[in-house]
Amino acid sequence: MTQHPMLSGDRFRLGTFSTNCSSGMTPTKVPERWNNSWDNNLKLAQMLDEAGIDFMLPIARWIGYGGETDFHGGVLETMTWAAGLLAATKNIAVFATIHTAANHPVVVAKQMATIDQIGHGRAGLNIVAGWNKPEYEALGLTLPDDHETRYAYAQEWFDLVRKLWTSEDHFDWDGTYFKAAKVKGDPKPMRGTVPIINAAGSPQGREFATDNANFLFTPAIDLERSKVEIAELKAQAKAKGRDVNVLTFSHVICRPTEDEAKEYADYTAVQNADTDAVDNLVRLQFAHAHSFPHDLLAQIKHLFALGHGGFPLIGTPEQVADGIVKLHATGFAGTTLSFVDYVEEFPYFRDHVLPRLEAAGIR
Ligand SMILES: Cc1cc2nc3c(=O)[nH]c(=O)nc-3n(C[C@H](O)[C@H](O)[C@H](O)COP(=O)(O)O)c2cc1C
Repeated sequence: MTQHPMLSGDRFRLGTFSTNCSSGMTPTKVPERWNNSWDNNLKLAQMLDEAGIDFMLPIARWIGYGGETDFHGGVLETMTWAAGLLAATKNIAVFATIHTAANHPVVVAKQMATIDQIGHGRAGLNIVAGWNKPEYEALGLTLPDDHETRYAYAQEWFDLVRKLWTSEDHFDWDGTYFKAAKVKGDPKPMRGTVPIINAAGSPQGREFATDNANFLFTPAIDLERSKVEIAELKAQAKAKGRDVNVLTFSHVICRPTEDEAKEYADYTAVQNADTDAVDNLVRLQFAHAHSFPHDLLAQIKHLFALGHGGFPLIGTPEQVADGIVKLHATGFAGTTLSFVDYVEEFPYFRDHVLPRLEAAGIR
């Protein structure tokens, strides 16, 4: 069987992020903010698939961030979302995003095997060890204060999933967090496993990612810093005999002129920012997670209003392509893209930026 599309070839990977969530990546009040309906997701997925985009990554969210728009208050559940999209596309990889604390590993192992069959080997799994305390409370769960416990739980969770994917026999599991009697994973993913994403920022999380993931997802705030970070992560993985690639996420406003792009950025993220939602988003990120460098908070806040902290790709097609080439030169293996309205804006990116990336030799 050929390699998984996410793992084959060495092109700079392009995906989308958060299309399953209301307002996508931009906590804005503008009326054209992303409507995350199934029909919009389907329309977009088929366009992306035809354009040769590599993957779609959803966000798993259980309560919104409040504000006038209740940013991320509306969310399509990611496993069922991925199942539907895999059935309706041909080449694109589609990830499910799973909170270890909210999803039993025996169930997830089977769900992943099922959606991998639906997509003929194009499913992937983004593992979230958990960070968002109010969300845990919404589910009646307790978020462990320390990262050691969060990631020890996630490790046992994934060890059990992996055993279900590799063991040919029934087995018992007697762990710290999970017990299982005479379980067996049948069916298994088509290649025995699926590509794993993890987006940890903490040292404990990065141990988990370099032990288990194919791709570590991390923000790109300061590219000089990212260069060092990527080299360290790859060395950390290599010391364990593993190869981990680093991905980031970007927000795109691409227009024929730089002025138009900047004006639209100002319109969405300054004049019409849902400031309460932005404040809540930033506050929660910094209270419970280490995903963003805490010393860059001031710089980061306006990026949160623009695209949830994503790398800004704002300008003409040439400028946007240059930004992506810079990410590639920094050592990133790929980026997700978000747009205020993905369906409306992706075609312009497809027609004017993708050819430039091909000409630059990274696609
Ligand atoms: C690109 C990216 C995607 C993420 N996706 C989700 C998600 O869908 N749901 C979620 O609850 N957390 C998500 N996270 C949070 C991370 O999985 C992780 O829990 C968080 O960055 C905290 O890292 P730490 O546990 O190492 O402090 C994401 C983070 C990043 C940077």
